[in-house]
Amino acid sequence: MADKPKVFVTRNLPDAGLKLIKEHCDAEIWPDPLPPPYEVLCEKVSDCAGLVSLLTDRVDEALMQRSPKLKVISNFAVGFNNIDIAAATRLGIAVGNTPGVLTDATADMAFCLLIAAARRLVEGHAYTLAGKWKTWEPLGHLGQDLVGRTVGVIGMGRIGYAFAKRCHAGWDMKVLYYDLHKNEKAEQDLGARQVDLDTLLRESDFVSLHTDLNEQTRGMIGAAEFKKMKNTAVLINSARGPLVKQKDLYEALKNGDIFAAGLDVTDPEPPEMDDPLLTLPNVIIAPHIASATVGTRNAMAEICAKNLIAGLKGEKLPAWVNPEVEANRRR
Ligand code: DGY
Repeated sequence: MADKPKVFVTRNLPDAGLKLIKEHCDAEIWPDPLPPPYEVLCEKVSDCAGLVSLLTDRVDEALMQRSPKLKVISNFAVGFNNIDIAAATRLGIAVGNTPGVLTDATADMAFCLLIAAARRLVEGHAYTLAGKWKTWEPLGHLGQDLVGRTVGVIGMGRIGYAFAKRCHAGWDMKVLYYDLHKNEKAEQDLGARQVDLDTLLRESDFVSLHTDLNEQTRGMIGAAEFKKMKNTAVLINSARGPLVKQKDLYEALKNGDIFAAGLDVTDPEPPEMDDPLLTLPNVIIAPHIASATVGTRNAMAEICAKNLIAGLKGEKLPAWVNPEVEANRRR
């Protein structure tokens, strides 16, 4: 029997994927809970045919240049801003990701952050634990109403749609969206209206980010954008931290330019412990857990393994980020 292809897996993954990987590959699995340092990663991948990476691993052109046998990079995430896709394509390396299976879990988390931030849930919990709850307070802990309000979705893709659907079907919200592409389904099913970013910021009670991180979207929400938002607005970010200028978010929350924020992502991750954002009562920060359900992570692991194996065999990847690589694929 031919030798199994050598692959490096940058973290321990759910068995649903790991079993498949071990069956088909000679796999080295990085055992630590923290990512391998960049230099170690480069060294480990240098004689591999496959790499399973996480969003915390920088997979750049230099790493790829140092890995002449590398045929496939399978990212354990739907986002792939950690990988230089243009370089991978130029060098003939197929790249896979895990779309679809995490849509509902991520939309759920975005909505969970919306309710929790709008209703000041975490602040209330801290208040209780601190022994400050003395009586029922007619004027205490006032948050924002949800029903019938307007939600602005930035990036009406799969996750944006699933989030908007929750807001519209469950809470009767009007849906605005900002996207380069028209989403007919969102318009038909949810009565969503495509608007420019300024209109969305001005008219929305809740603004939720669901767009890719790239050079066009990096820092797209900063001081100028916060000034356009309602001072009762809530910002939700379950996409990527660098979409938002974090210092500007701090100022906006502190000065009351917006009411609150719910974040599943920050810049950097984790945030520095002396980041002043962490001192504010009107921000909730979760440690990038939107896809963290048992079922979702198992499904991600399975797609990830299938992408890896297909890439090693030179076959079509089930979820292929750069199918255009086919013409000059490394064999
Ligand atoms: C992704 O997949 O891109 C999420 O951020 C983590 O599941």
